[in-house]
Amino acid sequence: MNDLDELVAQAGRDFAAAAAPAALEDAKARFLGKSGQLTELLKGMAALPHEEKKTRGAEINQAKQAIEAALAARRQALADAELEAQLKAEALDVTLPGRQRGAGGLHPVSRTLERMEGIFGSMGFEVADGPEIETDWMSFTALNNPENHPARSMQDTFYVDMKDAEGRWYNLRPHTSPMQVRYARAHAAKYAAELAAGQAMPEIRVIAPGRTYRVDSDATHSPMFHQCEGLWIGANVSFKDLKSVLTDFFRRFFESDDLVLRFRPSFFPFTEPSAEVDIAFESGPLKGKWLEVGGCGQVHPNVVRNFGLDAEQWIGFAFGLGPDRLTMLRYGVNDLRQFYDGDLRFLSQFR
Ligand code: DAH
Repeated sequence: MNDLDELVAQAGRDFAAAAAPAALEDAKARFLGKSGQLTELLKGMAALPHEEKKTRGAEINQAKQAIEAALAARRQALADAELEAQLKAEALDVTLPGRQRGAGGLHPVSRTLERMEGIFGSMGFEVADGPEIETDWMSFTALNNPENHPARSMQDTFYVDMKDAEGRWYNLRPHTSPMQVRYARAHAAKYAAELAAGQAMPEIRVIAPGRTYRVDSDATHSPMFHQCEGLWIGANVSFKDLKSVLTDFFRRFFESDDLVLRFRPSFFPFTEPSAEVDIAFESGPLKGKWLEVGGCGQVHPNVVRNFGLDAEQWIGFAFGLGPDRLTMLRYGVNDLRQFYDGDLRFLSQFR
């Protein structure tokens, strides 16, 4: 092996030993760089006699081409390896199932509230909304609750550590009934003006769904729950109207003409007479069971007066329904707390 073969072989080994592009460029410099071994050989030719220059030059050039070819091959090999490694590292498993954007949905109780608004809306009821922090007067006094009524106690009602200008405690409303008072008082002046102008007797036909609060917690009671208040008063709104409104509502809500209602005499300070409303189905999974779904009654004259209206002129009824209960019945859920645990495995079933 002559010195040039040896040099080519050496370059081949050095290139092979270079594991990264930078090391390969270092190795290249040792052979082909300004003072690399091959370059030195070329410089050394100046001293050779003319005849030898020709053959030696050709040999050196051949060696140079061989080294350059080895360098190019190694560069390509390193680049290929790098690409390979990168592809491996960034590998996509195309057999994985796609990641979907989580589709949200309405909470089951919100669905019920929308449904209630839709059905009552089609019967001419407006939808009203109001504060969840109420005054003692709105939650109790205006609704004819006597001063020492047990519903006012701290065992039943959440109080807010704050009093209004007249020194009465604020509370988290224990029912939506204060909305009767708020709505009527907000419109009383308008009605008076209409009557004074000789217009026909106006009426209030409104529902007020929303959150309510009580000191209570078990499988069928949650400290925060929902109610839907209803109020329909005017010149001559009767119990017959109450019965047909509620019957219609429940049949449509449960999509069942087999549904029957029962009015059980009861007591509420703000209505007289008062009744508790039960429903039963004549077929289906709930067949034959009476289920309590709300309270109702003819609005008490004292309450009508607190509305700012004339109790001789305004007569009608009010009702309070439990949307949580209706949601449980509609979907067959037996623990109310599931609605408020925030467990998506449960909630996503209602999407
Ligand atoms: N406010 C009552 C409750 O919390 C429900 C109720 C009963 C509302 C009779 C009414 C009504 O409007 O007339 O339990």
